[in-house]
Amino acid sequence: MKIDVLTIFPDFFKEVFDFGIIRRARLAGIVEIGIHDLREFTTDKHRMVDDRPFGGGDGMVLKCEPIFAAIENLVETDVRENFPNGTRVVLLSPQGKQFKQAVAKEFTDKAEHIILICGRYEGVDERVNDALVTDEISIGDYVLSGGEPAAVVLVDAITRLLPEALGSETSAANDSFSNGILDCPHYTRPPEFRGRQVPEVLLSGNHAEIEKWRQEKALEKTRKTRQDLLKGENN
Ligand code: ADE
Repeated sequence: MKIDVLTIFPDFFKEVFDFGIIRRARLAGIVEIGIHDLREFTTDKHRMVDDRPFGGGDGMVLKCEPIFAAIENLVETDVRENFPNGTRVVLLSPQGKQFKQAVAKEFTDKAEHIILICGRYEGVDERVNDALVTDEISIGDYVLSGGEPAAVVLVDAITRLLPEALGSETSAANDSFSNGILDCPHYTRPPEFRGRQVPEVLLSGNHAEIEKWRQEKALEKTRKTRQDLLKGENN
């Protein structure tokens, strides 16, 4: 999979993809991540990436020209209908559809090339949405000062679901949300720490009992903190 990030703050991403699963996936060639500075795609002498909003109002709006040029540079067209199969252009904004595990899975399964546009300031010129964006995505109901942290969230959630990314010793199948509920609690050595014991069943070696305990605990936790998941309100 190829992921390209369009941003006015390329340094934000300097080291963030150099750790853990993402680093390993990059080194193994499972994912290739490109960071592109939108300023490089400006043509005016001030290299302007943003401008005041038509109609007045506070803040600045990201200009469309550098974004169109950056996309054209990556996919050789500025017409969404002509994008190669498996290409998704994602605008990160608080107005987008909410990002969920199921959305991450859909990207992992269907997309080959994902281009993430990090919005800024008051917004992005709407012509970007009209002509180029295939998916407008929000990572939650709060406003970030830009889409960069959201881009990191998407890259992580999508990359770890790619076949081979987690390695044979782990699996995403039991992650929170994969089964529509939260994950169960986990413990490792020592079996007793400052008077706190690891639940006996986990030390029993009885795999059927362990599985039953894990399912019960996962349900208990979901009931306690995320009733909405059980009611199917949040899918
Ligand atoms: N940019 C600003 N806020 C955002 C959010 N909640 N999700 C994605 N991108 C954003």
